[in-house]
Amino acid sequence: MKIDNIKKICVIGAGNMGHQIALCTALAGFQVRCTDISQDMLNKAEDFTRTYLPERVAKGKIPQAQADQALSNLSFTQNLEEAAGEADFVIEAAVEIMDIKRKLFADLDRIAPPHAILATNSSFIVSSKIADATKRPDKVCNMHFFNPALVMKLVEVVKGPHTSIETVQVTMDLCTKLGKNGVLLKKEIYGFLVNRILSALHHEALFLADMGIASPEEIDMAVTNALGHPMGPFRLMDFTGIDLSYYIGMERYRETGDPKDKPSPLVIEKFFKGEYGKKTKKGFYSYE
Ligand code: 3HC
Repeated sequence: MKIDNIKKICVIGAGNMGHQIALCTALAGFQVRCTDISQDMLNKAEDFTRTYLPERVAKGKIPQAQADQALSNLSFTQNLEEAAGEADFVIEAAVEIMDIKRKLFADLDRIAPPHAILATNSSFIVSSKIADATKRPDKVCNMHFFNPALVMKLVEVVKGPHTSIETVQVTMDLCTKLGKNGVLLKKEIYGFLVNRILSALHHEALFLADMGIASPEEIDMAVTNALGHPMGPFRLMDFTGIDLSYYIGMERYRETGDPKDKPSPLVIEKFFKGEYGKKTKKGFYSYE
């Protein structure tokens, strides 16, 4: 298969990442179906699309015709069969829980056409942990976007030992079609490139806050002022979701049994208070 054979894309998940990945692919001219088990999330994704596109036109960032085309290219449905039944390429951006992803990939394998590539946007989980839930492991890979997906240029493509060269090539070509810079990881590694680097930073920032050395606000100020990052680690966790930090830590801890992989006390506290960051209007900061 070649990139020119990819016409229809299915995006699984309308959350933080999924709704923007779906819009990004629709803006690039693909016919896109975005699906989620939550009708509320789908409604929010559709509302975002209907607000974002006219704003981009008004700002002079995209022509009206492209906005109109993207709007007609993109549809939302709760029905997985309807979303994936005719897809040439599936991007899964569901919750970071291994069992859910494995079940989804088994369902997608049954539903999506045999030629379809099944990619996961997982932040950390390598696709070999999921590929064997399908009968097409050669067509399974990681395709990892960054938040906000409409803005951030990088996409990590990870080749698992099961992934064919053809799948990797089509996925890298898709990155180019989306106006992204794809970086190919030739071997699997937990957390890929960027999240390994980011994790080290977040781990240290959480340790310093847990120890009472400085507050999250002060640590963020230090990182933005001294390192020039656009956001400090706590603001960034609020933005990407403290629930995501929790799930990632727990999945890792379940796998390794190493206490240092457990989410930090501060993340656990926020998670159980339901303070996930921007999306719940409260995290390390307040967004009322
Ligand atoms: N959705 C879509 N577009 C957005 C946006 C959002 N949530 N927030 C900002 N933008 C767009 C604006 O429309 C604007 O576009 P334009 O220049 O074309 O008009 C542009 O981004 C800049 O926006 P602003 O001037 O309002 O704000 P900033 O200059 O502060 O930029 C930011 C906002 C791009 C989010 C910037 O703060 C940033 O780069 N933050 C760091 C983001 C980051 O580190 N991402 C990686 C997270 S890790 C990850 O994703 C891993 C995954 O596994 C979870």
